[in-house]
Amino acid sequence: MFNTCDLSHRSVLSTPIGLHYLLEGTEAMTVSEITGNTSVAEVVKRCPNARRVFDRHGLKGCGGEHGPSEPLAFFAAVHQANLEELLREINAEMENPSGVYVYKETLQDYIYRRFFKVGITTVLSVGCLWGAINLLQIALGKSFLQLRLLSSIHAHAHAMIFGWVAMFVMGFAYQSFPRFKNTTLWRPELANLSFYLLAAGIVAGMAADMLLPATGSFVLGALSGVFEISSVGIFMCVLYRTARQSIEPHNPYEKFIASSFLWLLLGTILESVFFFAKATAHFEHDLIMRIALIDGPLRDIQLLGFAALIIGGVSQRFVPQVYGLARPGRDHQGLIFWLMNGSLVLNIISYVLLLTTHKLYFAIGLEAAYLLMPVWAVLLARQIGVFGKPSQPDRTFKFVRAAYVWLLISCGMMPFFPLYGALTHQVFAHTYMGSHRHAFTVGFISMMILGVSSRVVPILAGIDAKRMNSLWVPFVLFNVGCTGRVLLQVLTDFVPGVAYPLLGFTGFIELTALLWWGIELWRTMNVGRTNRTQLLPAPFPLAAG
Ligand code: HEM
Repeated sequence: MFNTCDLSHRSVLSTPIGLHYLLEGTEAMTVSEITGNTSVAEVVKRCPNARRVFDRHGLKGCGGEHGPSEPLAFFAAVHQANLEELLREINAEMENPSGVYVYKETLQDYIYRRFFKVGITTVLSVGCLWGAINLLQIALGKSFLQLRLLSSIHAHAHAMIFGWVAMFVMGFAYQSFPRFKNTTLWRPELANLSFYLLAAGIVAGMAADMLLPATGSFVLGALSGVFEISSVGIFMCVLYRTARQSIEPHNPYEKFIASSFLWLLLGTILESVFFFAKATAHFEHDLIMRIALIDGPLRDIQLLGFAALIIGGVSQRFVPQVYGLARPGRDHQGLIFWLMNGSLVLNIISYVLLLTTHKLYFAIGLEAAYLLMPVWAVLLARQIGVFGKPSQPDRTFKFVRAAYVWLLISCGMMPFFPLYGALTHQVFAHTYMGSHRHAFTVGFISMMILGVSSRVVPILAGIDAKRMNSLWVPFVLFNVGCTGRVLLQVLTDFVPGVAYPLLGFTGFIELTALLWWGIELWRTMNVGRTNRTQLLPAPFPLAAG
């Protein structure tokens, strides 16, 4: 480890893009140029003190002891720093090293790992595996409306919203938000508490769903509600106080994030209300009516409110910079924000009023809300420029682009929902809605989690992503599984004899994809934890040869 900068036998040249040094290497004389293309790790290797400069721009523990292998230009773009200024600061630090820099990993640098690891464990077990088993039972019973499967489907949904989506969102937010805002995480130990509360709340909530109508399920349901609401409350408080510590000006994307967290809080409270509404229903008719009233708005709040808005916000802050996408010709950020929130509010109000009053004009409000969904989806995709040519393509870009294709498909389906119901003589076409939901939860949300985590984690672990597996196998499998499910679920209305048996396999195809991706991500996190420079050998080729 170097204590001061390795600048012996140096001559300084200057060019329009950066500062060039002739550095003496440790083994032989080498010529190194510090330009936008030099990796952060290379600069840190030459001059450990330069880490002080990177920390000022938000690096902190990213990349572990050796720093990320991304180029300086990439670091500057992602941290919204001026490259010329950054190069000047590094130069100044090399000229006059300001004391010895000792790297020390702290809780706020690695807290994301426990969130991500629980997220992976959840999706592979009670998420996708359990979902696949439920789907197999649906296929064998040739019906989506089997009351005996209700508890396990709701337990699966609960685990996926909180144990998969919220775990990844919270882990990512604790890791990146302070760095985006150029500050430190406020009270990391509280962030840690929110992790344990969330994990305990998920286990209690799932057990409560499965044990219904036993008396113990009421206690577990109450504990789950208290734990999860406290966890979300602490999460919001920690991020709010972190933002207040920052002197950075507010960025328009932050309103997406703030409103996403308000929807998350509302969705968490309503999840408890939903449980007790089911638990206290004495007759099957009451149970079905209560589910019909609450389930739709609850899932819309959690998926179209919490998940879509956080992905919309993070996409705007992260995707164009990381993949080098062109800025949109016209900025529609404000319009997208109001359309996303407005269509959701209109959707919930119209749905509840339609169901409780049976007045047909509320159906017009609902259809208007459905019509607005593809509008905001198209505007959001254009705003990010995700279908443009990336100047920094990466193995994960295909996931991000595919996620937006799925967003367009799932939102594009919604205006036709009432028409589909009318044509197939169904008041509520469960198959069509389930198909739309899967396109949204797996195609859009989960595809985005796969892509963004596989882009970010190697950076945090200090691994060069270019040397890693292309992830084509999980990408293709995930898309095949999702396409199969979305198409076949609708086809069960027309050719049940063919569609149901095939439908049963799609969950296991998705599970295989997630297993492949999950093992790679887990191992990458472990490399970061132990500061190993090599990936361990795996049973199948995870690292590119
Ligand atoms: C990856 C494989 C998955 C499989 C095999 C699967 C399977 C299922 C099945 C069989 C249902 C019942 C479908 C119906 O009644 O129409 C369901 C419902 C649901 N799933 Fe999944 N799922 C998966 C992934 C996900 C993910 C990633 C999420 C969340 C991000 C999720 C959230 C939900 C929700 C919210 C419901 C609706 C529950 C309700 O009716 O309240 N699922 N899933």
